Amino acid sequence: MRFIDVLTHKKSFTTPPMWMMRQAGRYLPEYRKIRQNHPDFMHFCFSSDDVVEVTLQPLRRFPLDAAIIFSDILVIPHALGQRVWFEPDHGPKLETVNFNALLKKADTISLKNALAPVADAIAKTRAFLDQTKALIGFAGAPWTLLTYMISNGKTADFNTVLGFAQENATLFKQLQAMMEEKVIDLLCMHIEAGCDAVQIFESWAKVVPAHLRNAYLYEPLKRIVKAVHLRHFNTPIIYYGRGVSGDYTQLIDLNIAFGVDETANMSVLRSHMPTTVLQGNFSPELLLQGDNEQFKSTIKSMLEANQGAPYIFNLGHGINKDTPIAHVEQMIDLIQCFSGDNF
Ligand code: CP3
Repeated sequence: MRFIDVLTHKKSFTTPPMWMMRQAGRYLPEYRKIRQNHPDFMHFCFSSDDVVEVTLQPLRRFPLDAAIIFSDILVIPHALGQRVWFEPDHGPKLETVNFNALLKKADTISLKNALAPVADAIAKTRAFLDQTKALIGFAGAPWTLLTYMISNGKTADFNTVLGFAQENATLFKQLQAMMEEKVIDLLCMHIEAGCDAVQIFESWAKVVPAHLRNAYLYEPLKRIVKAVHLRHFNTPIIYYGRGVSGDYTQLIDLNIAFGVDETANMSVLRSHMPTTVLQGNFSPELLLQGDNEQFKSTIKSMLEANQGAPYIFNLGHGINKDTPIAHVEQMIDLIQCFSGDNF
């Protein structure tokens, strides 16, 4: 598997392995068709056969090197008993809960039982997927999950979350520790069910003030990586910390790969991390606009910045739902053309 070979430093390729964050989603008509049968998004996430189908859909269209299991980071709060739902064209909504009560109950909840349909979908997907293609599992990181849980999904409202963390310091610490355990359990469950690599999404990393980043982001990350690697030494881990790639040099020793968002300068980052596996960072907005001079020159300079280094092509963030399929095809053609392996 090209994707795993790069993640494990076994081989490098002139044409980098590629996949796209949110590659299974609404920009695909075949996804929208299946989505229509599931008014309740969380119910969709637990319908194994449809999960297998939508996970495989992007790989039928594009020569991608990895599938990511179709699920959501919010399956953890859902499994803990906090109701999660989606209204059309709104972000997620989470019900208000008593966090002391949630903590008490959390120990008794086994993610393995609560999320059995996810494991089932992973095993089936792995069985259907070509042996040269990798299957990626994932989880949200504790901070990002807690922002959704504490603000009822209103993620713009970070002051509420930071305020909660300060005013309820003990409770917040207990919640962080509990979520850390659940994230470890979920990542291990994904690996045990058949995922070849896992990605940790810290989508709201940037809002954490610098002096709190160790406590809220990096110490939990280090413990999660250690715990997962203790059980699954060979499984690669990718950390996607949106807006904090400037801190990645401090995390090199973790022996993981890093997802890079579209705001980062790839060549500067690469010069600081010459041998680390980097993934990213094509702008989803450029992809939405399609083939133009900037589109071409950005792809070219990303490939140049990573020449000879361990690199996975990806977007800097999830693909926009209005992205034309032709633009994805143009992007892939350009990658293949500029890197010149296939040709
Ligand atoms: O293809 C894939 O990437 C796999 C599936 C996947 C989904 N969500 C499916 C999904 C993954 C890896 C996620 C991760 C996720 N979910 C993150 C981290 C990545 C990021 O975007 O920063 C976050 C923050 C969430 C929480 C979440 N779930 C939000 C904010 C939304 C609404 C987004 C929107 O575009 O409306 C979701 C819903 C969701 N999760 C959709 C998909 C395909 C769209 C729902 C739909 O079909 O209506």
